[in-house]
Amino acid sequence: NWTTTNVVEEQVAAIRAQVGDKRAICGLSGGVDSAVAAALVQKAIGSQLTCVYVDHGLMRKGETEQVEKDFVAATGAKLVVVDAEKRFLDALAGVSDPEQKRKIIGREFIRVFEQAQLEILQEDGPEVAFLVQGTLYPDVVESGGGTGTANIKSHHNVGGLPDDIEFELVEPLRQLFKDEVRMVGQELGLPEEIVQRQPFPGPGLGIRIVGEVTKERLDLLRDADAIAREELTRAGLDRDIWQCPVVLLADVRSVGVQGDGRTYGHPIVLRPVSSEDAMTADWSRLPYETLAKISTRITNEVADVNRVVLDVTSKPPGTIEWE
Ligand code: XMP
Repeated sequence: NWTTTNVVEEQVAAIRAQVGDKRAICGLSGGVDSAVAAALVQKAIGSQLTCVYVDHGLMRKGETEQVEKDFVAATGAKLVVVDAEKRFLDALAGVSDPEQKRKIIGREFIRVFEQAQLEILQEDGPEVAFLVQGTLYPDVVESGGGTGTANIKSHHNVGGLPDDIEFELVEPLRQLFKDEVRMVGQELGLPEEIVQRQPFPGPGLGIRIVGEVTKERLDLLRDADAIAREELTRAGLDRDIWQCPVVLLADVRSVGVQGDGRTYGHPIVLRPVSSEDAMTADWSRLPYETLAKISTRITNEVADVNRVVLDVTSKPPGTIEWE
């Protein structure tokens, strides 16, 4: 019989058997899957696990703190946080093309993550032989089912290490669907904000700014996004929508009037969608009251934003994200 308690017990035993007295590392993304996988492995092997979180500066308001404080408080996991905001912003300077932004963010992410891994490998202690991944059952089915290994190549001139290190994968969520993962996370005592988090793209807010990504624009978008999330939660709509990207049209300006003056600011787009699996989606028919509240608050509270627009496109033809 399937209960979350059984799943946790079985997985803890399996992880202990697999890892033995070696060490494991796990990359945290801020998302549900990696957090639950890490929490399970932490329960199984404690301080033999080191978690790595790359702060690329493209997270939403409060999300990095959630990992740094709440995840660590709930699990007791050993966490290395790499503050790489400047590196990512420097690499993104002057770039507006969506695909190029994605490539740059992906590339920098791998470099920073591998550098952190190499530093952990160099610490004293048992061999680091395992890499934890939050692979879910649907991912296993999609990719044909094999379990595997992962390589890291030491192209960072860190001396004294072999050229190519191979990790065995630990994937404790391979038999679970998303809703089961959330239940397991809850059972493990992870905070609600992590367990119920909606999908968020790896490149983060970097692909929710149409135009060049700068610190000022990110801060502005973070404020607008936080207001939208707060009002959706307050209205009890979190479970009704799949996700609600909030997008800054940084290259667009429109005329407005505020107080006694003319403004010339940027629009914010709300993109609430309903979906089963993100392959297709429909725009969510949110209550007008909630939309009105979000619009009023964003235009009042976020400087330089003088217009809020609603995206009423289904997928297809529109993707969920704008970039
Ligand atoms: P689209 O925009 O393709 O998005 O309709 C479908 C779902 O995938 C998420 N998404 C990403 N997730 N890395 C991710 O981990 C990415 O690069 C990425 N791009 C889009 C998006 O938020 C939606 O849930």
